[in-house]
Amino acid sequence: MTKLSVNINKIATLRNARGGNLPNLLAVALDCERFGAEGITVHPRPDERHVRYSDVTDLKPFMKTEFNIEGYPNEKFIALVKEVRPAQVTLVPDPPGALTSNAGWDTILHESFLKEVIGGFKALGIRTSVFIETDEKMIRNAAKTGADRVELYTEAYARDYTSNPELAVKPFREAALTAHECGLGLNAGHDLNLLNLKFFQQNVPHLLEVSIGHALICDALYYGIENTIQMYLRQLNNPFKQ
Ligand code: PXP
Repeated sequence: MTKLSVNINKIATLRNARGGNLPNLLAVALDCERFGAEGITVHPRPDERHVRYSDVTDLKPFMKTEFNIEGYPNEKFIALVKEVRPAQVTLVPDPPGALTSNAGWDTILHESFLKEVIGGFKALGIRTSVFIETDEKMIRNAAKTGADRVELYTEAYARDYTSNPELAVKPFREAALTAHECGLGLNAGHDLNLLNLKFFQQNVPHLLEVSIGHALICDALYYGIENTIQMYLRQLNNPFKQ
């Protein structure tokens, strides 16, 4: 079964637009859980333009599902994750000013850095995942960093799905098989939506979790957040359990 983790960064962006506390990030996160989300993802960035570091510490005590913190492991991020101790940390090679994550790790170039950071998190019992593209060498080397999982960066799949779904999914299916062979668990995310999610999940084996933010929150404007989460769960063939 593939779990749905809802990325709530867009909710924080909306709140930050007015400087107050509307919408209330904690209330939305709790409602997402109540409506069936099996995880909540936050991605604090150095400029805190979406989720703030303080949001992450405020949310943690109330999270009943899997809490996933994503981000670039600078000193501040590492300290935050070690303090909060989420179920999972996803390491992303974001340059500080990036609009959104736009590449996976070079796990060969950064092997020793990743190994050190991952070792520190694993010592505290935090599951680690590394954001990665479908390159076989990068996946094989991710296993050498000690990571528990890889998260496949699905932007290319989402882009190419509209013209040729089979061709778009092929490198991801192969990457999934390689990751499994290396003993790595498999997550995926970026630009997944109600149109492309089902085909991805049906064609990519061993998929443990997807993390979805932008499209899901956009869909919620039309369908409401409760309906939307259930629509995504249905794409994953993941029946909602109360
Ligand atoms: N995974 C990672 C590592 C991300 O940075 C993001 C976007 O913040 C996502 C998944 C979710 O992508 P989207 O917002 O396009 O669903």
